Amino acid sequence: MRIVAGSASQRLAHALAPLVGGSIASVESKAFPDGEVYVRLLDAVVGEDVVIVQTTYPNDKLVELLLLQDAVRRGGAASVTTVIPYYAYSRQDVAFKEGEVVSARTVAEYIQIKTDRVVTVDPHKEHVLGFFGVPTLAASAVPQLAEHLRAEGADLVLAPDKGALDRARLAAKHLDAPFDHLEKTRISGTEVRMSPKSLDVDGKTVAIIDDIISTGGTIATAAGELKRQGALRVVAACTHGLFLGDAIDRLRKAGCDAVVCTDTIEGPASHVSAARAVAEALKGSVAR
Ligand code: R5P
Repeated sequence: MRIVAGSASQRLAHALAPLVGGSIASVESKAFPDGEVYVRLLDAVVGEDVVIVQTTYPNDKLVELLLLQDAVRRGGAASVTTVIPYYAYSRQDVAFKEGEVVSARTVAEYIQIKTDRVVTVDPHKEHVLGFFGVPTLAASAVPQLAEHLRAEGADLVLAPDKGALDRARLAAKHLDAPFDHLEKTRISGTEVRMSPKSLDVDGKTVAIIDDIISTGGTIATAAGELKRQGALRVVAACTHGLFLGDAIDRLRKAGCDAVVCTDTIEGPASHVSAARAVAEALKGSVAR
């Protein structure tokens, strides 16, 4: 198996390769002065099962993924599996207002053209997988995040809202800890309100787990509320850490004692690798 590591997912692809017995294929990726993306496959992939690993954030990484898929297909690969660690555009998964584009579907329709299957990690909503017209698998990095939360001494796992409860439940199961959810109302793109909810957090280390941390508004508001209720430590955890602008600072100032995410988006808080979760998902799916 050959692994093609896109420039957005170098760390994850290199961690994945030994887990699946794959070797990294050499690729040259760069941007022209005007920002256009250039891709060149330097190794032959004729007759190989190829796994491309590339997060689709930011936008130029999506273009790079489409070019990599084309290079691998034209290179004569026997099969192409596209691993999208963080599927950007997945949050626009329904038309909330008349005339809106369901971006999660539109982008999926382009990605599916030159691949045999798609694997992604902790998708924002499961139904997004149905937008790809090829077999699709979702891996979950929550067990790996839970191991990290164990090391942080988490006594309780919270979801920021009811919709994210399954994730908190899964992490709590791994930790053998209780779980609950907060009540979130979104006011704007950067602000949320947490309805007061009395939780038994006094003197405890509380982990809040979400799929994505973007501006940090959700977790910052939750952390502040938990500290007011007497939590000893608050640990912010997510699979996909976008951490826009000063989000990490914002989280720390709001009372988060630790911040952790996976390497689906590579950054300073990527203390956990999703490679094992992706390897498990790939096992069997690429077997021919
Ligand atoms: C929303 O539905 C997601 O699951 C996250 O809660 C959201 O993306 C977090 O955004 P922010 O960090 O900007 O509050």
